[in-house]
Formats: sequence, structure tokens, C-alpha cells
Amino acid sequence: MLYDAQQKTLFGIRNSQQGYLELINKKYNFQETIKILDKIDWDFKDFTTQYLTHTFHSYPARFIPQIPLTFIKLFTEEKETVLDPMCGCGTTLVEAFLNNRNSIGNDFNPLAALMSKVKTTLIDEGEFRYFNKKLGIMKRYLDLDYRRIDERINNLPNRKMSKIFNRVVISKLEAIRETLLEVKEEGHKDLFDFGRVALSSTIWSLVENGNGIDVDNLFLKKVKSMQNELKKMSKIVKNIPEVEVICGDARKLEVETNSVDLIVTSPPYVNALDYYRVHMYNMLWLGMDFDLFRKHEIGGHSHFIINRFRLLSEYLGDMLRSMIEMNRVLKKDKLCVIVVGNSSLEYELIESHKFFAEMGEKIGFKPINSIFRNIDKTRKYTSADIGKIDDEYILVLQKTDDTTVSADDDNFIAEVVREQMIRFREQIKKVQGTSIRGRKPTKERLLKNIDKISEAIQTIPEDIKIKR
Ligand SMILES: C[S@@+](CC[C@H](N)C(=O)[O-])C[C@H]1O[C@@H](n2cnc3c(N)ncnc32)[C@H](O)[C@@H]1O
Repeated sequence: MLYDAQQKTLFGIRNSQQGYLELINKKYNFQETIKILDKIDWDFKDFTTQYLTHTFHSYPARFIPQIPLTFIKLFTEEKETVLDPMCGCGTTLVEAFLNNRNSIGNDFNPLAALMSKVKTTLIDEGEFRYFNKKLGIMKRYLDLDYRRIDERINNLPNRKMSKIFNRVVISKLEAIRETLLEVKEEGHKDLFDFGRVALSSTIWSLVENGNGIDVDNLFLKKVKSMQNELKKMSKIVKNIPEVEVICGDARKLEVETNSVDLIVTSPPYVNALDYYRVHMYNMLWLGMDFDLFRKHEIGGHSHFIINRFRLLSEYLGDMLRSMIEMNRVLKKDKLCVIVVGNSSLEYELIESHKFFAEMGEKIGFKPINSIFRNIDKTRKYTSADIGKIDDEYILVLQKTDDTTVSADDDNFIAEVVREQMIRFREQIKKVQGTSIRGRKPTKERLLKNIDKISEAIQTIPEDIKIKR
């Protein structure tokens, strides 16, 4: 395949790292492939991770493309189907696309679904010519257009926005949005989506860097660089595989039973980051419903303030439902790969990958490997509650049996979460403060965690229920 030949250049691979490409581009039987996993240096130190459409938009806690790529190459054939049920900005989908595998991406975050779709949709030169002409006209009239500022501010999807961005910025962003709506009305849906990702990326830069940025030029520069990357991608992808992107809930996948050949995903961490908050302004500007996403987001932490351990039972319940769905849609004997790091809750370490491996065994998965990897220190992300994340685990599960339970079975979910929470409490009884991270809680404070976990165990049946 053509992409194999390009990988060395795109990844910036040096000769000493050439062995990785040789390993993943060979054919093995299943048992040999499982052994190859231990030969790979999963840190991928010095590899370029931003190339082609991966560069379109930043996304918190995305994984590096080399993780899905490795599993896609080693465990699937061309035209087989790869699923990421929490696909974020579509890293798995892009790698599947580049390697001629069909893919399905699912995410409840509408912005994530949009990015995933745009990153895997090729657009032809003629369409780009039309688009650039349209943007040229917009640019020419932009500076003459300030008289409409008040009208535009009144039309904003949410009035709070006028507190975040200044009048000129708002006016320019609105002019871009109006132009994109015209593009849609004129029948160019893919360009409309493409432009919305560029607009969202521009808004992201504004939120990160504050007002005062030359908005229209920033947007036009973004469009140009995205066009270049998409053009490069069109030259690489000769046979266009099928891609389906669903904006939906991982706990109730709209995917056919026994239809998927590989799952590679990275779920949210418990108590780490609320995607709905991170993307609130982007979503508001693009007219997306972030309230619905907020309600259904897994791992969010803006509730259960008094007893944070209730977040853990809720999270375990949500992840168990999602894993039941992963088992349902996966074909027998195929792999489900879950990438997740440790979290911290009230000074205690939460080893999510161990919880997931235990859950997996109850629903027809066999844990095959749990690979530890360091995250590039410059790329790690932080959160006030969980501190720095500098390592993660790649949990490799094989589907050995069809699950006999349904993701809706509240009694089963409550029972498994209860077992896990009781075991967790036993560990904390033995040793407390497993994740203090430089803070100095008193012994009494740490001992209170045992009572809090006991209280959280009592409320499991209500906490694991899906909020409607
Ligand atoms: C760690 S990120 C995934 C990043 C992804 N691997 C990438 O490379 O971009 C976790 C994702 O889970 C999504 N998510 C949270 N709750 C969800 C739910 N109920 N159903 C589907 N996706 C959900 C979030 O929107 C977020 O995109």
C-alpha cells in the first residue's frame, strides 16, 4: 500500500526506529501477532504524531495515531471494519482510512463527530476552487461590514458569548459563519462541515490566546493548511474505504451485532475533564446542543461534590455498559483495545485498566495483555484534580464469548459495580493515600475515605442509572 511507503517520512522515523515499520508491515498468525505486541516500544518517543488530517483541530487527551495504527495493521485486513465507540477527534478513523479499512466512529460530543467526519472526507479540487472564491469575496467585504455588529451580537446563539469575545471578533466570526451557511445553502455540505471545523479551530485559538487575534486571517490560514493536508491525503488514499460517524452514546451503540473486526478506543478518565466545558464555546458558536452531551458525558466531574466516590461508581457503571456494547458488536475472537491512564480521587489512585480487565472477564472478554506506556512529557495534559498524567495502559482484550447480558440491565451493572467498589474499599482499608501527589492530607482525612466509599456503595443502584 502507498501509505506504508509514506509512513517513514510522515512519522519522522530515524533508522534506529525503522524496525517498528518492519514489524507492523509483516504478516503473522494470531499467536505470533500477540507476541509482537511485546516487541514494540510503545512510547513512540520522537515520532511525529501530527500529520495529514490529524493536524485539523486540537483535542484534549487524544491518543497518538501510532497506537490505533499498530493494532489496525497487525489485527485486520483491508476492507475489514474498525470501530472506535468514543472516537473523539477521529484518530482511529483516520488511521483506518489511510490503511484501507472501513471504520465506524461514535462520540456523544457533536464537535468530535464533526471533526471525525471531516478528517475522513476527501474533497475535490473543483470544490475547493468554489470555496476559496467564496472566502475571497467574504474577505473583501469583511472590513466594510462592521455596521452589522449590533445585529450580529443580537443573533448570537448565546448572549454569554459577547462577554468572552470583543465586538470586532464577534462580527468577524459571524461573517465567517454566515458565509459557511451560504455554502451549505448552495449545496456544498462537505465544504460547510470542512469550514465549520476550521471555524471551530479558530475559536479554540481565540479562547486559548484571548481576544485581539486577527480572526479572519487566522481562519483563512487554517483553511489553507487544512486544504493542503487533505490534498496530500487524497494522493495517498487510492481506494476510499467506507466511514460511518455516529453522534451517539457508547452505552447504546447504533451498530450491528457481531459486525466489527477490531475496536480501538480511549474512554474518558474518571474525574478528569469535562469535554462539554472544554468545547462549550465552539459548540455554542456552531449551534450544537452541548446540554444533551453534558447530561450523557461519561467521566464528567461537576456533580457529586460531597462524596466524590459516587463519581467512581457512576463511571464504572457507564464503562461496564459501554464494554457490554463493545462485546455485542465485535465478532468472536476479535480484539478490543482500551487505552486509559490512572486517575486520582480524594488522594486515592484509581487504576481504571484493572477495573476494566475485571469487568471484561464477566462479559465474555479475555484479557490478553496490559501494556504500560510513557506519554511524551511535552504532550501530557493536566487537571487540577488528577494532576499530571504521564503514563497510560493499553488493555488488550479478546472476545471469547457473546455477552449474555444487556447494557440496559441495571441489576447486573449494580451488582458488578458493587463488587468492584467493595474490593476497592478493602484496598483502601489496608493502605490509604495512594495518590497524594505532593499534597498533605491528615491521617484522619484519609481514613474518612473509607466511610465515604461505604456511603457510595449504598447509593450504587441510583448512581449507575442512566440520566434521561
Ligand atoms: C479520551 S477522549 C477520546 C479521544 C480519541 N481517542 C482521540 O484520539 O481523539 C474520550 C471521548 O469520549 C467521549 N464520550 C464521553 N461520553 C460519551 C458517551 N456517553 N458516549 C460516547 N462518547 C462519549 C468524549 O466526548 C471524548 O471524545
